[in-house]
Amino acid sequence: MARQITGEGKTIGLVPTMGSLHEGHLSLIRRAAQKADVVIVSIFVNPTQFAPGEDFSSYPRNEKNDIEKIRLSGGDIVFIPKAIDIYPDDYQTYVTVEELTRTLEGTSRPTHFRGVTTVVTKLYNICRPDVVVFGMKDFQQAVVLRQMTTDLGYPIKFIIAPTVREPEGFAMSSRNAFFDNEQRSDALCLYYALRSARDMVKAGITSPEKIEKEMRAVIKATCSTAGIDYIAFNEFSTLRPVKKIAKGTICSLAVIIHGVRLIDNMKLM
Ligand code: PAF
Repeated sequence: MARQITGEGKTIGLVPTMGSLHEGHLSLIRRAAQKADVVIVSIFVNPTQFAPGEDFSSYPRNEKNDIEKIRLSGGDIVFIPKAIDIYPDDYQTYVTVEELTRTLEGTSRPTHFRGVTTVVTKLYNICRPDVVVFGMKDFQQAVVLRQMTTDLGYPIKFIIAPTVREPEGFAMSSRNAFFDNEQRSDALCLYYALRSARDMVKAGITSPEKIEKEMRAVIKATCSTAGIDYIAFNEFSTLRPVKKIAKGTICSLAVIIHGVRLIDNMKLM
């Protein structure tokens, strides 16, 4: 299929997803449609990026609605592979990015990125994209995949598109579907904490320790049962921790709200 499209002189844009699409995904599809002639959207809940005990089996799935949303957003082809096609019996080959995956999400979910980089490599090989679009919401994933794309020499334009937020501020995520209304307002604690960090930086505070202390207080004040996995301050491209907030510093956090692990981030300068 991909060969035929490129044979006709058309460019291919790829938006890999795990389905249960929301406005955040649709913005990626629209961006891909601006950059490529034909947009392929893949839907595949990738088992290798979930550790045992994570939410693989309960991950929201809604293919019928997804297909309609993709069509309305400018996607041309929906690719829904079966697990057996991606990981045939006796599958043994994985793609690993080293340093960038040893921090942040990689600390809490040590096998996660290996699954992401492996499936995206397979999607690249099948769909042969000229352009790919990933979301800033999973910024470490985007940085890791960008590194992999460069390291493996794929001639692909790599786009990282901004996070789309709900009107109240919290980042759109397929996992938001797990929440009722009250729990949704508790989930706002991530955004409130990031907003307080950004305001402190605007007021001239550059100490990560001071900012983290305030963020923890904001989270607990919004949702007393929240479990904070990490709050971190890193240089965007290298993911190295910073001692002082500076240009390019990104603050990211992972918080467990009513049993659901949410992540979010914001550039502070
Ligand atoms: O961000 C996601 O939805 C997934 O990690 C991805 C990139 C589609 C790989 O399975």
